[in-house]
Amino acid sequence: MLLLLPLVLLLAACRPGHGYYGACDTCGMRPMAYHYNNMRIVGGTDARHGNWPWIVSIQSYRLAGTGHLCGGSLITPQWVLSAAHCFGHSIHILDLRVVIGANDLTHLGQEVEVHTVRRAILHEYYNNRTMANDIALLELDRPVHCSYYIQLACVPDTSLRVSELTDCWVAGWGYTGFRSVVPNPVADVLQEAKVQLIDLHICNSSHWYAGAVHTHNICAGYPQGGIDTCQGDSGGPLMCRDKNADYFWVIGVTSWGNGCGRAYQPGIYASTQHFYSWILMQLRAAAHPTSRTWSHFMTTSSHYHGQNAAPTQASTSGSCPYPVQKLREFFTGVQNLLQTLRGNKA
Ligand code: ARG
Repeated sequence: MLLLLPLVLLLAACRPGHGYYGACDTCGMRPMAYHYNNMRIVGGTDARHGNWPWIVSIQSYRLAGTGHLCGGSLITPQWVLSAAHCFGHSIHILDLRVVIGANDLTHLGQEVEVHTVRRAILHEYYNNRTMANDIALLELDRPVHCSYYIQLACVPDTSLRVSELTDCWVAGWGYTGFRSVVPNPVADVLQEAKVQLIDLHICNSSHWYAGAVHTHNICAGYPQGGIDTCQGDSGGPLMCRDKNADYFWVIGVTSWGNGCGRAYQPGIYASTQHFYSWILMQLRAAAHPTSRTWSHFMTTSSHYHGQNAAPTQASTSGSCPYPVQKLREFFTGVQNLLQTLRGNKA
């Protein structure tokens, strides 16, 4: 019973608009959007500051202007999810900085945190020719502090029925297509746009991508084009509102497209749901570098996999979603306690 107490307190604390947002113990919530009380991308509009509080700008000191290279999503206080193709040969992690809580990259305020990168993990089967498994994780130098402008993203496991989600958005500081001035084609202010999820079969049909899209991808945009992610948006999130509650899932990582905003050539995203257990395995392995045995990975990933069905369930009751890390900690705690109790009995 005592164990349930923190859970109940957490649930009580995180109703939209009334929560304490500093603890990084929920995900997908948008305190500023609740506060606003209404809630580049090609064809998008300026986002309001805090609309997508898990989005980060990954920058390199070697690039001109703001140094913006790619987007990413904060999935735990110390890990960012991004795209593998952002970290090609010419990119050194020592040159990188991760800007969190920003809106206008040319005017970083007090609410912004700037971090360095401790390590980058690219998917071991990322293929730069086919763009298969275009996903990566960055470990930050230290954990972030959550706030009205900095929140964790929710990553769904395979139990979320992604294709049923209808309120989906992309955001990023990438090329807007409007400014053709060569030196700085990217957006300073975060752009956002609503997109439609497009069935993979349609997306892979002959006048579209003709089989180039992988089964672990998501297609999103519009058949007629016009609104799309573009260069510089890569690594950033494709996000959908939960069907039953007011929080967002990061269902995709911006990966590629043929041009930007062209008809029948929508944006292609790596499905986070598909890589859910890969992500957990990497986080687990990074936390316990000594216990690197395959069977260990397998048990923990399937174990967590089951437990993390909870964000979906939480949503049906209208309560708040749990980030991967909090669930992991909570259930590990319960498991340890049960083990101790069992041990005492025997
Ligand atoms: N590969 C691009 C990048 O590095 C993202 C392209 C997305 N393209 C698209 N048409 N949706 O930023």
